[in-house]
Amino acid sequence: MSKRVLTTESGAPVADNQNSASAGVGGPLLLQDQHLLEKLARFNRERIPERVVHARGSGAYGYFEVTDDVTGFTYADFLNTVGKRTEVFLRFSTVADSLGGADAVRDPRGFAVKFYTEEGNYDLVGNNTPVFFIKDPIKFPDFIHSQKRDPFTGRQEPDNVWDFWAHAPEATHQVTWLMGDRGIPASYRHMNGYGSHTYQWTNADGEAFFVKYHFKTNQGIRCLSSEQAAEIAGKDPNSHQTDLLQAIERGVNPSWTLYVQLMPAAEAADYRFNPFDLTKVWPHKDYPLRRVGRLVLDRNPDNVFAEVEQAAFSPNNFVPGIGPSPDKMLQGRLFAYADAHRYRLGVNHTQLAVNAPKATVVNNYGRDGFMATNAQGRHAKNYEPNSYDGPVETGRPLSAPLAVTGHTGTHEAPLHTKDDDFFQAGELYRLMSAEEKSRLIANIAGGLSQVSRDDVIEKNLAHFHAADPEYGKRVEDAVRALRED
Ligand code: HEM
Repeated sequence: MSKRVLTTESGAPVADNQNSASAGVGGPLLLQDQHLLEKLARFNRERIPERVVHARGSGAYGYFEVTDDVTGFTYADFLNTVGKRTEVFLRFSTVADSLGGADAVRDPRGFAVKFYTEEGNYDLVGNNTPVFFIKDPIKFPDFIHSQKRDPFTGRQEPDNVWDFWAHAPEATHQVTWLMGDRGIPASYRHMNGYGSHTYQWTNADGEAFFVKYHFKTNQGIRCLSSEQAAEIAGKDPNSHQTDLLQAIERGVNPSWTLYVQLMPAAEAADYRFNPFDLTKVWPHKDYPLRRVGRLVLDRNPDNVFAEVEQAAFSPNNFVPGIGPSPDKMLQGRLFAYADAHRYRLGVNHTQLAVNAPKATVVNNYGRDGFMATNAQGRHAKNYEPNSYDGPVETGRPLSAPLAVTGHTGTHEAPLHTKDDDFFQAGELYRLMSAEEKSRLIANIAGGLSQVSRDDVIEKNLAHFHAADPEYGKRVEDAVRALRED
């Protein structure tokens, strides 16, 4: 069989891919060497801005299958029949490090799912943790700055990391989570995913429920100790990528079971915790897990850049029957992602294969911009309303309306009867086994003891004391011992 011919970008055959064209055998190169110029110029443009957070990641395709009837709670089309399958793309990630960082690090993991439903793409952009460090989006840039590289030293600085937390008592719950055993998953396959926020489901009768998503790994939870992680990160910085890629190539397809917690909307106002506070969980005894379906990953992308680097997930990509809650963090995220995509990938990023709907088509009046490819047909008008049979609105609300009261202003999140910054952190600590507690204390002390200022250390210790007196004392003793060394 004859080999395929190498071509230029415009499809013309390339005569020589080993030697540049020159003026004579030993002379300078010729400007007319289109293949050389194109090759060098394209190479210079291979990189795009990396994600400002979650830069490092791995992705795979698969499907979601409904196993249980949830039609009493949402009219979402892709959840309306037991047995129904929807194609998905899932991107896992670490958060703080840049594209070149290592996978085996103590950091939350992203768990972003795109469901290609028949009513459009639904993006559920979560983490492997059910809670988060802060509860107001206005703090997010400061928080991330404190965790990433310092602008002067160019390194992650324990001073900055812990100084932010010293001023964010609401982070104590998530810090306890992160410093505990689950803070370093062994791989992306061996961790749970959570929607983390509270979302809203609406059923066919217009009744609203608040919902939290839990994807439980069917591979079992596996974690690394700080020592194991340091060794693996040094040997194979791509350890999570290697694990996911190889498992799927071998046909060992990872899966997760999706459960939800459902709260009738009317119960939100009087629940003991503010149900829209991202630093809190809903204890399962209040709102038990209810099974919904199974998510399976069974296909690796063909090209990491095209499909993983250019994947764009946005928490405001909802489908009818699912909508946002008043969670302030979620509200901030509804803006941030598509804005990031327009910067990182351009206005037509939704036309890229990984981001475009697969089970339906786009019919709208958006046109043009860099790299536009979807013309929507020669007779499609680019304005609405029109007399040419163009697409029209449905008139059906996507989710139920929520009642609001009060005045505009920069309000703190309302506190419910059991709300404070520490109770749930203490509960998490008390749930841990003796060995887990010891590892947690050692991890916290290992970081906190590196902080240069005593007042920053004291403020952080006060948070652990407030969560649980024993927890506080043990961290304090461990930090002292390390600083006296
Ligand atoms: C107000 C708070 C937050 C803001 C402003 C924010 C903003 C961002 C931005 C700008 C990106 C990069 C997007 C891109 O370039 O494609 C990103 C990525 C991501 N964020 Fe957030 N984020 C916030 C909180 C959270 C929370 C609470 C979670 C999880 C519950 C989360 C999960 C993720 C994930 C998983 C990604 C990576 C998505 C992917 O794989 O492409 N973020 N975030």
